Amino acid sequence: MSGRRVRVCVVGAGRTGRVHATNLSTRITVAELIGVVDQVAEAAKALASELGVNHYASLSEAMKKGDFEAVFITTPTPTHRDLAVEAAEAGKHVFCEKPMALTLGEADEMISAARKNDVKLQIGFMRRFDPEFRKAKELIDQGAIGKPVLVKSVGRGPGLPPRWALDPKTGLGMVAEVNSHDFDSLRWFMNDDFKTIYAEAAALLRPDVAEEFPGFHDVVAVTARFKKGGIGLLDGGCPVGYGYDARLEILGTEGLLTIGEVKGTSMLICHADKKITTEPFSSWRDRFKEAYVAEAESFLKAILGDRDPEVTGEDGRKTLEATLAAIRSIKEHRPIELPLR
Ligand SMILES: NC(=O)c1ccc[n+]([C@@H]2O[C@H](COP(=O)([O-])OP(=O)(O)OC[C@H]3O[C@@H](n4cnc5c(N)ncnc54)[C@H](O)[C@@H]3O)[C@@H](O)[C@H]2O)c1
Repeated sequence: MSGRRVRVCVVGAGRTGRVHATNLSTRITVAELIGVVDQVAEAAKALASELGVNHYASLSEAMKKGDFEAVFITTPTPTHRDLAVEAAEAGKHVFCEKPMALTLGEADEMISAARKNDVKLQIGFMRRFDPEFRKAKELIDQGAIGKPVLVKSVGRGPGLPPRWALDPKTGLGMVAEVNSHDFDSLRWFMNDDFKTIYAEAAALLRPDVAEEFPGFHDVVAVTARFKKGGIGLLDGGCPVGYGYDARLEILGTEGLLTIGEVKGTSMLICHADKKITTEPFSSWRDRFKEAYVAEAESFLKAILGDRDPEVTGEDGRKTLEATLAAIRSIKEHRPIELPLR
């Protein structure tokens, strides 16, 4: 394993593709970025020439012309299944952004394609690689606050995501686009699977967007029950304007552990006019900057060491199931039992 690098191609040169491709090309020593794919030629070309790699118009073209072992799928959610299955069938290891897919059937196809072709599949829950989240998980698993009984996750984004993510016909809405991460954190810290999900959501921040895309919501509250009895709370909102806000609180039988704050810096400006100002995290790219590097590194090391990824396709599917249950609960105004039928 020593000295070997994994040849990687990034599929999707949008917001997330840029983060991963830049990290793979400049910061991750076990990676060799060979190319960038985007169906929009200018997008692929711009990012590829910035990083000095090849560019392709499709994954199929990249597989014909390029030599690589793993893909990072950073395209809109409705494309994940087809791209992941195509890559796995060709023997490429797959890192896929969250939400894993639009349906559980699609998620199952991705998992079985990876299994059948003996390739790794990791889903993009980068919070699990954030140094504070990681340390907190370690402490909780060591019993630092006794047994977790209630986990609360706050997940809010400052601005609207791309249009495909706003339209319930092409995305799963904010509860998936922003809050997939929170569902994953609830599961991870509680060390348990969801049993019941109840959600309320409304379009209160941007009712104008709901007029264009009926079913759009921008504020969400979820209460969840876990199989072994624990309780989960999720509080989401986007676009909140004030910053990227990811905070977590875990109540245990012997104490409390909290992670995160709205402030993105320890700097305060205390002005003589009695006003105190500070800076928030401006986006997920800043708040989880190091976590994106660590998650990609972990995926590539799983390939090199031939071990299971730290966040599996099954993790992605379980989070997707909770998200779909929340969406159903929002529509039907009732608690939803898992597993979904
Ligand atoms: N982990 C995180 O923190 C995080 C943050 C934001 C978005 N995401 C996820 O990343 C994914 C992409 O989101 P984004 O905001 O970067 O989207 P985006 O719209 O900014 O970029 C998507 C890119 O994919 C390209 N594309 C679409 N279909 C394609 C195809 N079939 N083949 C090749 N290229 C194709 C588009 O032209 C576009 O350039 C989504 O699943 C989203 O939920 C994750």
